[in-house]
Amino acid sequence: MSESYIIRPFCSPAQGVAQVPGSKSITNRALILAALADGETLLRGALFSRDTEILITSLKQLGFSVEANKTLHTIKVVGLGGKIPTKEAKLHVGNAGTAARFLTAFLTLSEKGKYFLDGDEAMRLRPMAGLINALRSSDNFAYDVHGKETLSFPFTLLTSGYLKNCEVDASASSQLLSALLMILPLSSGAKVLMSSSTVSEPFVQMTEKLCAQFGRPIAQVNPGEWRCENPGSFISPGIYDIEPDATAASYFITLPALSGKNSCVRVGGYNPKGLQGDTAFAGVAKACGAVLNNEGNALVINHWPEIKGGTFDFNNFSDTFLTLATLACLANQPTTIKNIGHTRKQETDRVLAMASELERLGIKTQPTTKELRADDTLSSLTIFPDREALMAASAHKPVSIHTYEDHRMAMSFGILGSFDLWGDGRPWIEILDPKCTNKTFPLFFSALESLRTQFVSVAVDGGAACGKSSTSRTLSEKLGFLHVDTGAHYRSLTQVLLQGFVNPEDTQAVNNSLSKINLSTFISGNSAFLALNNKVLGEAELRSAVVNASVSQFAAIPEVRAFVLAYQRNQVLVAQQNGFAGLIMEGRDIGSVVLPHATIRIYLEADASARNQRRKDEGIVDSIVQRDKIDSSRTTAPLICALGAICIDNTNLSLSEVVEKIEKMILEAGRVQ
Ligand code: CDP
Repeated sequence: MSESYIIRPFCSPAQGVAQVPGSKSITNRALILAALADGETLLRGALFSRDTEILITSLKQLGFSVEANKTLHTIKVVGLGGKIPTKEAKLHVGNAGTAARFLTAFLTLSEKGKYFLDGDEAMRLRPMAGLINALRSSDNFAYDVHGKETLSFPFTLLTSGYLKNCEVDASASSQLLSALLMILPLSSGAKVLMSSSTVSEPFVQMTEKLCAQFGRPIAQVNPGEWRCENPGSFISPGIYDIEPDATAASYFITLPALSGKNSCVRVGGYNPKGLQGDTAFAGVAKACGAVLNNEGNALVINHWPEIKGGTFDFNNFSDTFLTLATLACLANQPTTIKNIGHTRKQETDRVLAMASELERLGIKTQPTTKELRADDTLSSLTIFPDREALMAASAHKPVSIHTYEDHRMAMSFGILGSFDLWGDGRPWIEILDPKCTNKTFPLFFSALESLRTQFVSVAVDGGAACGKSSTSRTLSEKLGFLHVDTGAHYRSLTQVLLQGFVNPEDTQAVNNSLSKINLSTFISGNSAFLALNNKVLGEAELRSAVVNASVSQFAAIPEVRAFVLAYQRNQVLVAQQNGFAGLIMEGRDIGSVVLPHATIRIYLEADASARNQRRKDEGIVDSIVQRDKIDSSRTTAPLICALGAICIDNTNLSLSEVVEKIEKMILEAGRVQ
């Protein structure tokens, strides 16, 4: 078992492109079809994981030329038109369901072959009977180590080289049917009949579509009866591009629900009309409150304003049920996941495994783990959200989540642990045996890390009408930052002091008035507004000619500055607690006094004439030169370009040019290396 991995919650929004690997289901199907095709196929965007490597190794052992390039994510396979060069081999399929089923059917195309197949302990328990029984009618037999016929691993398979009409019970797994469908075109005239219904039908459709892409369409001539009208060996498409894994994408689809409201995650190459049924998860996510869009060939997921519970049928895309089950702990109401009985015979009993680990976190489920243990036919799970229970369970140390050698357990709980449950970044989930993700997504935890951003604070200082506000506002909207205009703080105080007829020279009167003012923050969109005694003053009041004329005088009073300083510094915390990716604070002394350690400090400048013109264009009466004079000459926190700040003269620059310049710096600073 690999060492454990403590998940660090996301204290800043997740942002970026999720590095989702190629689909396991498509990679392993394409490997089989390419080996059964005539000539060479280059698979691009292939997945390199335990399950696909098992199949690659097996094909090589069987005498195929398979050249894998992990860096380029390509696999070159030389197909032999249905011939299998090696007649005797010992193959180990690990716990890879696809490799186990696909290889078993594939090998029967070898005339008079003798193959020993075994798998991990867990694979020995997984369903194979439907397939082995179906192959028997075509004179392929599986014997156990005692020479008795068997329906599970390990077995020696004596193969006939052909597939005749056969009937398959695929009720336990659609892979039992898919395995047969992939050799159907090479079995002239044969029919595959399904004696049951099957789970996860989209995977059967995936098999059908892949067969067509490799030149041999198979079709259901009657419901549950497949045939290939134009049989023969598969035809290599030359190059075959594998879609990114839709199941793996489900983790990143849910991440923005847990990582702050300004999260924005892109999953590239996500094709809702592609081969993978698990793309249906995006629909569930939407129903649960996700704000997502298809942009070009990417799926873009923004914040989920609220995680909504509900009832969902996961029969057709059951691999993703674990993703929803963990998210459900934080939903606004219980979530019921129906029709997932077949997942109880996958990598592990997934329903029981999920319920057990939720229970470890203090979450109640129905059925309970006890009920699930007593009855293996139970096929749905209701999860009752309870944040307090999560906190109680993790109050002293992170909860260790057992993963049962199931990659999906590790990944779904990994995403849950990304939630900042305690609001202070304290880890609360530890994943045991994190390397089990090697099965389909070896780099899962690095992909998760690469979406982490770090909180960026930006100080923007400059004289009156130098473009601070428009620049800061545009940037904050673009980047999901909180915008704080400290000029408005002084304007608000000035307005209130003027209303109280306070003389700026009379320190005692100033102090007296200030002592009656309580400061709080009101956030609207991306802006933080200062409320004085719970009241936010309107723009017209703040920017009136009277306030313009006296604000600098009041702002020069040390007591006034001291009165707002702690409040202003605290805005960083306000931004973090409200899930903003960063903070942009503008004023005169931000880079020098308020946030001297800001990640980025900017000083904006423009010619006095240009600035005067800007104010005139806005129709505002304001003697900016006079204000600048007072602001720069006062003794406390004068307007200066702080040491080390980046000075940008924007006299001849457009707003978008300035924004672009600063945005680049911010993005660079925000990326966690
Ligand atoms: O938007 P404009 O450039 O006209 O000025 P403002 O940012 O609204 O600031 C109004 C006045 O508040 C400034 O002229 C300064 O006197 C004062 N102020 C300050 O002293 N320190 C700050 N950090 C921000 C503004």
